[in-house]
Amino acid sequence: MTPSDVKATLSFSDGSPEMQLPIYKGSVGPDVIDIRKLYAQTGKFTYDPGFLSTASCASSITYIDGDKGELLYRGYPIEQLAQNCDYMETCYLLLNGELPNVTERAAFTRLVTRHTMVNEQMQFFLRGFRRDAHPMAIMTGLVGALSAFYHDSTDINNPTHREISAIRLIAKMPTLAAYSYRHRKGHPYIHPDNDLSYAENFMNMLWRMTEPKYVASPVIARALDILFILHADHEQNCSTSTMRIIGSAEADPYLAMAGAAAALAGPLHGGANEEALRMLDEIGSVANIPAYIKRVKAGEIKLMGFGHRVYKNYDPRARIIKEVADQVFEVTGRNNRIDIALELERIALSDEYFVKRKLYPNVDFYSGIIYQAMGFGPEMFTVLFAIPRTVGWLAQWNELMADAEQKISRPRQIYLGEDHRKVTTHSKAADAIAVKHKEVVTAG
Ligand code: ACO
Repeated sequence: MTPSDVKATLSFSDGSPEMQLPIYKGSVGPDVIDIRKLYAQTGKFTYDPGFLSTASCASSITYIDGDKGELLYRGYPIEQLAQNCDYMETCYLLLNGELPNVTERAAFTRLVTRHTMVNEQMQFFLRGFRRDAHPMAIMTGLVGALSAFYHDSTDINNPTHREISAIRLIAKMPTLAAYSYRHRKGHPYIHPDNDLSYAENFMNMLWRMTEPKYVASPVIARALDILFILHADHEQNCSTSTMRIIGSAEADPYLAMAGAAAALAGPLHGGANEEALRMLDEIGSVANIPAYIKRVKAGEIKLMGFGHRVYKNYDPRARIIKEVADQVFEVTGRNNRIDIALELERIALSDEYFVKRKLYPNVDFYSGIIYQAMGFGPEMFTVLFAIPRTVGWLAQWNELMADAEQKISRPRQIYLGEDHRKVTTHSKAADAIAVKHKEVVTAG
């Protein structure tokens, strides 16, 4: 990165010397002030819980303009990708920086397809989970367990190991997700079918029963594929930052991704889709919305699926999901929670509380309604998010591995605890240990 001609000057009211800070310009988006030398030169840290004003890395993968409500993968608007591409092309784009040509696309898809099976021993892990275990907890455990299966190819400094790990994770996530789904139902696990597309094969592993060949509804398969595109990456969100933080300690990508998946499970992040659906159920009918909004405004509860750290405008993914919902409903029948959601959105978008705080529906507000119409229970929603986010986590992890400026992540703190003080009591247990120690030393 080359600093711009403009510099920031930091001055202190106590007469300490001023400091000049370099400024970098991104290709689009806000300028960034480089504070790396701040502590060395001033002995002071910055304070920014939740990273409200802190860029932790330079990235060329995804760009969000929160004010405009715009999302780009490698420069391409999400709407265009959702309309013209499939999830495999999107994966290739995120990992490699360019959309694939026909040959590259076929080769990449073949590679992913050939890695969809998981070691049969994985089923022993599954058996250890209770039937009522949350599928996201199961998934997180299974992803971490992959590290134990592939310890021969987890050298993060080896580009071939990095590439094969990424392919394995993208390929195996639907298989693990389907296993966690069927474990809950007590249904036998279904092996992948390599004749099918990524989304169709996932449907096969979820829903095939006794029929010899699963035939996927093209509408549902395309809807899932679009949902996968929309969820593929979202720059430095909580789970991606977790992936990078764990990766910065040079843990292997399977372990780092287990951490990312755990972060995604949180209700303020990917877990919000499950919570949003439960909220719609709790509201129950359009007539109950005003009372619910009243509780939100009183600060008693949050409107789940609303608000975002970056978007201060409509989340473009939510807009696309609304369109996909109509297509899905033509096959599955209408999920009448959509009526509650639309009315909730209408009221929220005209209410001063939400307008003032720029709170708009995010990706999680409508996705659950579609997933439920497809037949998923709310507990599966975050798993469905984790499948496509895998490629984003890995593209960001690859970028971290190639970034010479990155160091192990290690934030500082402002310490507000006690200053130095003396221990004034003396415990008998400490004496007993000292006597035991003396006896051992004397004995020999
Ligand atoms: N409902 C009601 N009020 C809200 C909501 C909400 N969903 N979100 C934010 N606010 C209010 C806050 O109370 C705060 O009000 P105040 O200024 O009076 O204190 C103000 O809006 C700003 O909110 P913050 O919490 O400071 O915003 P932050 O950027 O820290 O949080 C977050 C963003 C976590 C997404 C938040 O909006 C939220 O909890 N939303 C609900 C959960 C959700 O949908 N998460 C999914 C996000 S998308 C994703 O991760 C895939």
